[in-house]
Amino acid sequence: MISKNFDSLFKAASSVRKLAHVPYSNFKVGAAFLTEDNKIITGCNVENAAYPQSQCAEATAIGNMISNGSQKILEIVVIGSGDLLCSPCGGCRQRIREFASLDTKIHMCNENGHMKTSTLEDLLPDSFGPENL
Ligand code: THU
Repeated sequence: MISKNFDSLFKAASSVRKLAHVPYSNFKVGAAFLTEDNKIITGCNVENAAYPQSQCAEATAIGNMISNGSQKILEIVVIGSGDLLCSPCGGCRQRIREFASLDTKIHMCNENGHMKTSTLEDLLPDSFGPENL
C-alpha cells in the first residue's frame, strides 16, 4: 500500500484529468490534494490560445482549495500523460510550498498507476517560504 489515502486521491485525480482543456499540448494532467480538514480537492490543466496564460493542474487545484475554505495540503497525487514521470513543474513546486509542509508526500503517477513518491523537500530543496517573510 502506497498510503492510506492513495487510492481515493488517485481516483479523484484521474476523473478530473479527463476534464483537462489541452487543445495545444494534448497533455492532460490531474491533481488531487488531501487537505488537513479531510477534503479531497482536485484540479486539471487549462490551456489558452495565448500559451503563457495556460494554467497547470496543481495551480487549478490550489485555487479550488482556497475557494473551498481549506489551506493546508497533507498529501498530493499528480497524474500526467505518457510513460515518463510527470513531476510538478518548478513554478508549481513553489506554489505548493505555500500550502504544504516540507514532508508532504507527492505521488507522481501516469494513467496506469503510481510511478514515484517524493516529498516536497526532495523536489524543492532549500526553499523560500512564508516563514522567510
Ligand atoms: N502541466 C501541469 O498541469 N502540471 C505540471 O506539473 C506539468 C505540466 C501541464 C501544463 C501544460 O498544460 C501541459 O502540462 C504541458 O506542459
